[in-house]
Amino acid sequence: MLVIKVGGSALSDKATGKMHTRQVASNLAKELGNEKAVLILGAGFVGHTLAKKYGLRRLSNNQKEWALLKHAVDKVENSFVELLVNYGLAPFPLSLPSLFTLHNGSISWFNGKIIRGYLEKGFLPVLHSDAPLDVKLGVSILSGDKAAVEIANYLGADIVFGTDVDGLLDKNRKVIKAISKAEAAKLDFWKVNDVSGGMENKINEALKAKGKVYIINLRKPGMLKAVIAGKNPGTLLF
Ligand SMILES: Nc1ncnc2c1ncn2[C@@H]1O[C@H](COP(=O)(O)OP(=O)(O)OP(=O)(O)O)[C@@H](O)[C@H]1O
Ligand SMILES: [Mg+2]
Repeated sequence: MLVIKVGGSALSDKATGKMHTRQVASNLAKELGNEKAVLILGAGFVGHTLAKKYGLRRLSNNQKEWALLKHAVDKVENSFVELLVNYGLAPFPLSLPSLFTLHNGSISWFNGKIIRGYLEKGFLPVLHSDAPLDVKLGVSILSGDKAAVEIANYLGADIVFGTDVDGLLDKNRKVIKAISKAEAAKLDFWKVNDVSGGMENKINEALKAKGKVYIINLRKPGMLKAVIAGKNPGTLLF
């Protein structure tokens, strides 16, 4: 069983906004086979642009801006789900704010039963990074990375972080084939590679995963299939 974070970087080009939903949906449809999976979509270009524009960190008389963000990411999810349905899968969108609450950005409550229930009934649950209630901040952002780790730990699943890069890159931009979580915790080259903090945050979340974590390029045909076949086409964090 896999929890697949369909990264915003896979779905959209963060610099230009160009969407790659069709390619990613096609890869998923062709490669998932009978593997049970939960999909968590990232915010990507649309979400990150709006969150930055409105400075969305907490609730402060900015309900309309939060609603705009929610609506924009919902639309991306809808178009992705439409593609999956057309490819013959059985995606079933579930709402992350109905399943999680937060305390200052950390998960304070999570109900995984609903996700497990839909999985067991043969659906492909789909969620996206979202804005659950936060007892300190009113609402705040729950990243797809953090949600993916929590859900995978609950289900006993491995995680695939699908991005637009072939894996975790070293200082010379070469893919690190395999690295233990203990070693990954010591990596210190982020400031060179990662202005947005995207990959550094992802690795920090991945360290909390109980199972294996794969980082692959979800736009490239074949990488997900290789993971499902028990291979390691990108980076394996163990
Ligand atoms: N050492 C590194 N190895 C791999 N990618 C890196 C590294 N440093 C920085 N990056 C960048 O991190 C990005 C992935 O993080 P990012 O948060 O942008 O993607 P995502 O999580 O898929 O998107 P979203 O947050 O919208 O879901 C890659 O596109 C890459 O450009
Ligand atoms: Mg990210």
